Amino acid sequence: MTSKDNAQELSELLTAAKDHFSYLGELGVEHVEIPLTLPDIPAISPTKKLSPASIDRLPGQAAALTSATVPSPAKAPQVSSEVLFGDLAPPSPKLERSSETFEEIQTSVGDCTRCPLSQQRTHIVHTEGNRQARLMFVGEAPGADEDFQARPFVGRAGQLLTKIIEAIGFKREEVLIGNINRCRPPGNRPPTAEEVATCKPFLLREIAAVQPEVIVVLGNTAMRNLLDTKEAISKLRGKFQDYKGIKVMPTFHPAYLLRDPSKKRETWEDLKTVRDYLDETSRADNRNA
Ligand code: URA
Ligand code: URA
Repeated sequence: MTSKDNAQELSELLTAAKDHFSYLGELGVEHVEIPLTLPDIPAISPTKKLSPASIDRLPGQAAALTSATVPSPAKAPQVSSEVLFGDLAPPSPKLERSSETFEEIQTSVGDCTRCPLSQQRTHIVHTEGNRQARLMFVGEAPGADEDFQARPFVGRAGQLLTKIIEAIGFKREEVLIGNINRCRPPGNRPPTAEEVATCKPFLLREIAAVQPEVIVVLGNTAMRNLLDTKEAISKLRGKFQDYKGIKVMPTFHPAYLLRDPSKKRETWEDLKTVRDYLDETSRADNRNA
């Protein structure tokens, strides 16, 4: 590694640390414990080259780390490609772009009474935001505040979602925000399978019209209902999934973060993965333009 690489890496680390602390500040975290044990590395003068032999002689943890992380090729486990790739599902068909407008889709929702959730709602809560969005957030269903204001994610969880969106450098108006179900379930119970099957097609039509590059699904219910999976959010979070060629990032629901703020760190990691991906694709677009 050259000193230019080192400087670049250091600058990236400092930027990431700065982003992280400004995010934590945004979220109202005032004190962070950092359990940090620094390896015992001797000072290396710029003129002295570090030879493989001198790496072996590094004392303490650094030496243990260096020798432990370099497996000998002879001992690498043999894994056949069948084991690695055998159970991968075939790729899902790509989503056709549709030319429907949100107005057309919302007109076809109408004054909906297709499912029992219509009986106790105050308002239908439609998807809102930028119809050319690169990034979309999908939740489960409106809560009391959303039902009252006819807008998604405007209660306490919604305010935290807005901070999370801003922490990765977007304004709320720049992204799209919607829910799988548009009417509030009584007592905020999860929607039934029938209620999901009735309402989800409208969201899928909006996704086909906008074709965001990334959809972030918030929490177990939204993730399971968008991806048709029974997996748990704790297992899939942080790893890009696929919805018909669109990258889907599962992460924790902001209401869950309000109950367990220690999960904000993982949510931040997941969102940073999304931002890095979007940064990378826009750089690639600029190169190809
Ligand atoms: N929780 C959700 O899943 N959606 C909202 O719009 C608000 C809270
Ligand atoms: N359970 C949920 O439904 N959502 C989360 O984000 C975490 C646990």
